[in-house]
Amino acid sequence: MRKKLITLIAATLLLVPTAMRADEGMWIPMLLGRNQAAMQKAGMHITAQDIYDVNNASLKDAVLLFGSGCTGEFVSQEGLLLTNHHCGYSYIVRHSTVEHDYLTNGFWAMNRSEEIPCPGLTVTRLVRMEDVTRQVLEGVTDQTSEQDRETIVEKNIQAVCAKAVEGTHYKAIVKPFYYGNQYFMYVNEVFTDVRLVGAPPSNIGKFGGDTDNWMWPRHTGDFSMFRVYVGKDNKPAAYSKDNVPYRPLKHLEISLKGVDEGDFTFVFGYPGTTRRYVTHDYVDMAANQTNPVRIALRTIRLDHYNAAMRRSAGQRLKYASRVASIANGWKKWQGETLGIERLHGVEQKIAQEEQFRKWAADKPEYRDVLDQMEDNYAKMREVELEWTYFSEAVLASDFMRRTIELRGIASRGDDGRVEKMLNDSRKYFEDFEEHSPVDKAIFIECFTYMWERGFAPYMNLKHTTASEVEATLEKIYDKSALNNPKKLEKLLGMKREKMIHAIAKDPAVELFAQAYDYCYSDKKRQQYNTADDNIQRLMRTYIRGMMEQYPDSNFFPDANLTLRVAYGHVEGFRPKDATYYTAYSTIDGIMEKENPDVYDYRVEPRLKELWQKKDYGHYANKKGELPVAFIATNHTTGGNSGSPVLNADGQLVGINFDRCWEGTMSDLLFDPAYCRNISLDIRYCLFIIDKYAGARHLVDEMTLIDN
Ligand code: ARG
Ligand code: GLU
Repeated sequence: MRKKLITLIAATLLLVPTAMRADEGMWIPMLLGRNQAAMQKAGMHITAQDIYDVNNASLKDAVLLFGSGCTGEFVSQEGLLLTNHHCGYSYIVRHSTVEHDYLTNGFWAMNRSEEIPCPGLTVTRLVRMEDVTRQVLEGVTDQTSEQDRETIVEKNIQAVCAKAVEGTHYKAIVKPFYYGNQYFMYVNEVFTDVRLVGAPPSNIGKFGGDTDNWMWPRHTGDFSMFRVYVGKDNKPAAYSKDNVPYRPLKHLEISLKGVDEGDFTFVFGYPGTTRRYVTHDYVDMAANQTNPVRIALRTIRLDHYNAAMRRSAGQRLKYASRVASIANGWKKWQGETLGIERLHGVEQKIAQEEQFRKWAADKPEYRDVLDQMEDNYAKMREVELEWTYFSEAVLASDFMRRTIELRGIASRGDDGRVEKMLNDSRKYFEDFEEHSPVDKAIFIECFTYMWERGFAPYMNLKHTTASEVEATLEKIYDKSALNNPKKLEKLLGMKREKMIHAIAKDPAVELFAQAYDYCYSDKKRQQYNTADDNIQRLMRTYIRGMMEQYPDSNFFPDANLTLRVAYGHVEGFRPKDATYYTAYSTIDGIMEKENPDVYDYRVEPRLKELWQKKDYGHYANKKGELPVAFIATNHTTGGNSGSPVLNADGQLVGINFDRCWEGTMSDLLFDPAYCRNISLDIRYCLFIIDKYAGARHLVDEMTLIDN
């Protein structure tokens, strides 16, 4: 049966197993010349040089790494920047209180003095990139051991970077590509004074919430605005009230024409991680081991937080951010697993590997690589399960996470730690009565879940029934100083020796230590790290082999949070039998979803009013509809949030913010029939700023093209 299936897939999909499918790929801007012909054939009117040029201002100067995991883009000559609402989220939350709830009500700076500084937030512009493979690998030979290789590479990278930024205010980093077959250096300019300018209320910016997250049709106005400030010399500077708006080399023009089904688009941004070339073992581990455990444990957490959020506005604000991030992975992994199953991902990979084995049979360099890979994955897999439990169950509660701080005081000395813990705890206890039952339930259920799956012998939870285990856990929770302000003050007030002793005996610390020592014993850590190192090294050989095997294929390097271009077409898709999704959504869909009883589907009265009057300004499409979002075949991943989506002329038409659930396996396996990125239509964004918020002055800063 299995064999038949493999032959079938091989015959239909895998004529050239590793060839890129149409629209797949995240390409290196500096090497985009290689894609230019294909991009122009697909409809692009501009050149690769318009996108990336070291000698002249080009589109890349308008595209930024926002914080450490999103993308943003300049849309005005005065440093105004667009990104997603969910990328600016933590800054919006940070400035929100129950009285000034910007998260719920939105925030619009009506003049520059109202823009809010966001300490800690940085924005990074790529100045130039360079292939530094030769310099980085200088001194490495075929005989060099893996460990020595690492040392040499590290040393070379430092030297290359230091030289590149000498006498400038730039920062350089080097990143490996194709598992270290190639290295590129990125010379960056990092801006440190970034201010919040605007954000829609959450029932626009997060409309649909976690219910609609990862889904199409979508109606989320997922954008927020910031401004970059610099010193008077237009160079990055720490926050100062004397700083002035940055004048970018390039800002994006905005097209009001919109896009139609079939139109060329490209996404320019910072995709984080993909694993396009991994072997079947990884795909199997993700779909059948890691994802199911993570999903089950996160369901426990989400159930408790969601219930609490329904109880009070205070709790809603408190948990909003963490729920968004827990739910995000939770839902994505469900889609990923389904996608892998639908595509027979494991079998597909096995079929590709068979081809490779045949090809490699007479090549000593490559012959054993896949066998060795399997051995190493088997070792990794054993430990990986425990590490997943540790991060998703042991660390699920605040209670257990706070033991880490306590242990730190005992093991690493004071150094301000006691003071910090006392301060943090005072804050923690402020709403303890409300929060504690939630945290306690999460703690107990997650540990019980592990106990039920065989963790008993390692955690001193040697009971026979779940209810006995629960009772023990409850005792641990209630007796620990971490849940008792008086006890904690007393503990942290003790003399050092006595305190260390008392901390070690706290039941929470004891439990945590047992779980930690079990999951992260030296032996396990070594087993995992050795397997992981070996896999990285084997991947380097494997991918080099595949490139030799298919010399005519253009292999895109896996995403690694460096600037990339993905291109494709606006296109609907068929998610399931008898269902076709068209490529764009409109404000009418918001009103279809409206439900005052469901938090995620509340509609702002003012938005409804504009809709009733069809007061869309010049942001409507030719049919008179107000478009909200659209989907396309651009290959994107986490980190591409906030990325500009550009049309054939390189003008901004949308802001990328998500992928369709049915295609979330695209980090591992791309399928043009299902993989779609989701973008906010720029016209909806402008409509909200201008018509809804009355912040016309912000739109006036931008360059709108209306023909
Ligand atoms: N799925 C999108 C991404 O991966 C949006 C996440 C934030 N939104 C949310 N409802 N949790 O970033
Ligand atoms: N929302 C994602 C992000 O934060 C983008 C969606 C994806 O993973 O493609 O980058």
